[in-house]
Amino acid sequence: MRIGLAGYGRIGQAVLTTIDRERGRLAAMGLALEGAAALVRDPARARPNAVSVRLVTDRRDLFGQDLDVLVEVLGGIEPARTLVTHALQHGIPVVTANKSLVAAHGGELRALAAEQRTPLLFEAAVVAGVPFLGALSRRPLFSSISSLLGVVNGTTHVVTSAIARGERFDDALQHAVACGYAEPDSDADVSGRDAAEKLAVLLQLAGCRGVAVADLPRLGIEWLTPAHFAGARACGGTIKPIVWASLDEANRGAWIGPAFVAADHPIANISGVTNALQFQGSHGRASLFIGPGAGPEVTAATIVDDIVEAVRAYDLGSRFAGMQGGSDLRGRVLTEWCSTPPRTSSFLCVAPAGRLRLQDVAELLAAYRVPARQIVERDGMLAARLAEAPWASVIEAVAQLNGRGVHAMALPALFPERRW
Ligand code: HSE
Repeated sequence: MRIGLAGYGRIGQAVLTTIDRERGRLAAMGLALEGAAALVRDPARARPNAVSVRLVTDRRDLFGQDLDVLVEVLGGIEPARTLVTHALQHGIPVVTANKSLVAAHGGELRALAAEQRTPLLFEAAVVAGVPFLGALSRRPLFSSISSLLGVVNGTTHVVTSAIARGERFDDALQHAVACGYAEPDSDADVSGRDAAEKLAVLLQLAGCRGVAVADLPRLGIEWLTPAHFAGARACGGTIKPIVWASLDEANRGAWIGPAFVAADHPIANISGVTNALQFQGSHGRASLFIGPGAGPEVTAATIVDDIVEAVRAYDLGSRFAGMQGGSDLRGRVLTEWCSTPPRTSSFLCVAPAGRLRLQDVAELLAAYRVPARQIVERDGMLAARLAEAPWASVIEAVAQLNGRGVHAMALPALFPERRW
């Protein structure tokens, strides 16, 4: 099987290294995979540990190689979209890890793949080391979810885990970049854009058509300090960079960014590059997936498994092993989205602590119908757990506090079950 690579950066190189290392295991399945060519911008760029492969700069030279599978690991929308479309139009199965592309054009590309009966697999686009997306995309009852909550960005999880231990933001980010977890521009991680794209992919597969990344509310992590984590600990939890969406008609909404997570929530107890996703099924079923979310090796392993799935579809006599979306099978379509978090409990931080009397903060919160259940002072900061309320009320109360010479921030607060 001749594999064409669009992109030969860290992930692309790891794909060919993995194929090389797993040659015996693949041969035992009757599969011989070989790198036919890699499309790159700059053939002269140093790739010291890369498996040798023909480097081309013109897409015609890539597609002139009689490809059996195209692996797209360029990232970004163009030229990735054009290359993937070209491959599918010519019946060449595509494997991609490109969440930006699937978030923005997943609907059109999945439709083209179905029309051409040609596999389009993107298991590595979300929680790269845990192959659960295929289940979400092919199983109509499992994908019938009412909510999802998780950590889907390894970089921000590494960084927030380090800040929780008292380390500096810059040092932690540098470490995540050195490990190969971060995007080429790490602002995509820090700002929540990468997680928003992954949530958009998940929502597509759960039947939400027309949810654009720009419709999803997000907050970056760059403002967090060890004091915020100390406040959260004093309130019985921690802070995690989450994605959260409720598909409930009565309480629809989403959040991408830091959130308070109670200490007894399973997501509170993972750290570093580990990702987790919890689905609440409409059939009374809750499921939790945990594993590595980023890094060239785990991503490459998932991509190679996708290649194997794609080529085995031929053996099984069906040319189609696409990731259609359980909703496409089931027919559920949500076209309206709400660009705020659902009604929620929340966590409030106010600094500096001494500027407002605790009593005054409590009275203001009560006046805005977001009464505090607990207020503590830690490391020069007031931290409070607030009662469940519409997000608009939380935002109004925070704006009032910010008008009084302090810096106030509110985050959604998540608990294993509602009990405030
Ligand atoms: N930058 C991403 C992350 C890579 O840190 O999770 C994997 O998608």
